Parts: sequence; structure tokens; C-alpha cells
Amino acid sequence: MIKKQINQNDIFRKEFLELVEDKYSFSISPINRTINKPKSLDKQLMLKNLKSKIEQIKDCELKNNATKIVFSDGKYNSPIMIVGEAPGEKEDVIGIPFVGEAGLLLNKMLNAIKLKRENLYITNLVNYRPPNNRKPEPKEIIRYSKYLKEHISIISPKILILMGSVAMEGLLGNKIKISKERGSWKEIIINNKTYQTIITFHPAYLLRLPDQKKYSWEDLKIIKKKIEELQLKI
Ligand code: URA
Repeated sequence: MIKKQINQNDIFRKEFLELVEDKYSFSISPINRTINKPKSLDKQLMLKNLKSKIEQIKDCELKNNATKIVFSDGKYNSPIMIVGEAPGEKEDVIGIPFVGEAGLLLNKMLNAIKLKRENLYITNLVNYRPPNNRKPEPKEIIRYSKYLKEHISIISPKILILMGSVAMEGLLGNKIKISKERGSWKEIIINNKTYQTIITFHPAYLLRLPDQKKYSWEDLKIIKKKIEELQLKI
């Protein structure tokens, strides 16, 4: 018996077909070729591939000690992407970013400028919970920033929000201070594309130092203004 060899194209095609809705692949009505479906499908496939690349990371203390990967939450087609630091205890169990106390505050902050978290795309710099919630080490920040950059390129948001110094460090290095850099728009270039980016305090920091919320509120208003300027539909 001759076994058919499965090559990379077959695997790709299988993954592709698994993602296609039934009505799209089996409908008897003519296919509407003007809809943007393949682009969304590409995004889903690329996200799936990125997730599996992260799952294959070797010799990582974060990964080795975590319960599960915390990849992302929300809409992959959203014009707004939020990047936090790393999963905490609850995120590690549930596998979704920002579902603990800091997440509840994040939801309130977003609601304050009429945004709903489910309409945004949310991830973290690091995808596995650090032991005892310790800060990720510089080598870990570098390791995961490579994946974060790929993640940003796939989502391709109109607005990128970096929450906290670890997310900031992952994209901009450790030479700058969040207290100086927060609250103004920066153009960050990733894979030849420019992203309108704002750095703001992390909700967990605001829980520890509530008097800093006034700065956070300033940043939120700046974000709201940008959404209006860009006429983003969210
Ligand atoms: N803090 C983060 O930065 N991310 C989470 O997902 C939860 C808490």
C-alpha cells in the first residue's frame, strides 16, 4: 500500500478549511467574491500559527511553571490593540488576559471612554504567568517581544495601547521611563509599518497607587480624541 505523503501545503489547506465556515465552503449560492473573508481568514490562520509557535518555546521558566498559555481576548479585527505585561493567577487558570482585579479596573477605564473590552483586541507582552507574579526578566522580555511584534503585525491596529513599563520595554527598550513617556502619541515602526502608539499606566499599578489615576484619565481622554479624529468604528 502506498501512503500518500502529507506535505506542508496539505497541512496548510487542512487548517484553512477547518477555519472556513460551512456556508462559505459548501453553499450552493454563488460565492460573493467582494467580501473581505480571506483577509480575516488569513489573520485567524496567522494567529493560530503564532500561538503554536509560542507553545513550542523551549527552556522558558515562565512557560515551564505556568498552567496554560494566555494568548489574547477580543476581536482580531478591532482597530485598537491593548498590550499588558503578563498573566496573573486568574488569567493562568482561565487562559484569558485581564480577567482578574486589574482586568476589572481595565474594563472600567475603557467604559469611562465608552469602549467595551469585547470590541478591542487584548494581549500581553508575555504569554505565560511568571512564578509568583514576578516581573519578567530582561531576557524574557526580549524573548517574548519577538512574538509580540509578530502579533501586532497580524492584528495591524490603528491604535496601539501599551499598558505599563514591561509592555513599553518590550517594544522600546529599557532606557526610557514610563512617567516621562506616557500620555503622548508615538510612532512605532514594526515590520515596516508605523503604529500610532500610546503608553499609559498599568491597571495593577493604579490599584497600588490610586492617586496616579488622574494621569491615566488624561491618557484615556487622549485616546478618545484620537478615536474621534480617526473616525474609528468600534
Ligand atoms: N496584568 C497583565 O498585564 N495582564 C493580565 O492579563 C493580567 C494582569
